[in-house]
Amino acid sequence: MTYDTIAVETQGRVGLIRLNRPEALNALNAQLIAELDDALAEFESNDGVGCVVLTGSEKAFAAGADIKEMRDKGFVDAFLDDFIGRWDVVARARKPIIAAVSGFALGGGCEIAMMCDFILAADTAVFGQPEIKLGVIPGAGGTQRLTRAVGKAKAMDLILTGRMMGAEEAERAGLVARIVPAADLLAEATKTAATIASMSLPAVIMAKEAVNRAFESTLAEGIRHERGLFYSLFATGDQKEGMNAFVEKRKPAFANR
Ligand code: HXC
Repeated sequence: MTYDTIAVETQGRVGLIRLNRPEALNALNAQLIAELDDALAEFESNDGVGCVVLTGSEKAFAAGADIKEMRDKGFVDAFLDDFIGRWDVVARARKPIIAAVSGFALGGGCEIAMMCDFILAADTAVFGQPEIKLGVIPGAGGTQRLTRAVGKAKAMDLILTGRMMGAEEAERAGLVARIVPAADLLAEATKTAATIASMSLPAVIMAKEAVNRAFESTLAEGIRHERGLFYSLFATGDQKEGMNAFVEKRKPAFANR
């Protein structure tokens, strides 16, 4: 499949999606979101893919929703079209998605990065929710996910002033997992994704689901959920393979079953 606004490839078991509207710093328009939706659905159903990397260009992961496309919308257009509805595709994915962020991740760009399972940031990465400067507020989860990631004080600071924060501040605040030199970002993200993709896929998906449950439930409920998932993994061949391989001092060969 070829796309206009994204570039898609696989490297081994890693699916790579690159946002690709350089003329607009990867501003997220309806076509890009539709193409992203399509590409992710293909990776989700492709048994050969175990982990996805979502990235942009050196200058911009994405500078937000496309302001030129958005500015003439009325309330009824926004409401009836539910124009952000489709953006959730990233958050709904079952397979892990790593955001590899270089340059600007602003507004909807920051929100899409936060929908991913974790963010690897280049030292050049810049994050922000500048919607307030446009007379609106974040609309694709920014007020919720940023607050959970960095806490109320910094989320309020960023969302109410619209200021940007660099990679170091973002790492300190817990928004990004790791910072790497810009030149190494994609290699590091792909290597990390390949490591994840080499694990048992049922275990990976359940691990992701269990961590995400921490944001949706009480501690007791989350722990009960985790335990159910943990027990259920003893029904997989991969549990036997993983543990036998350890005892036999060899690398496991997971069948994802
Ligand atoms: C449409 C955009 C854009 C955007 C940049 N461009 N961001 N077009 N929507 N979000 C376009 C510019 O108009 C320009 O096109 C080209 O990309 C290069 O941008 P410049 O501004 O010339 O680059 P620079 O001076 O380097 O400044 C970079 C920047 C700035 C600081 C990132 O572009 C910027 O502030 N962008 C807007 C960031 C923002 O407000 N994002 C939040 C959007 S609202 P031309 O044709 O002039 O060359 C949002 C809501 C999400 O995301 C809610 C869910 C839907």
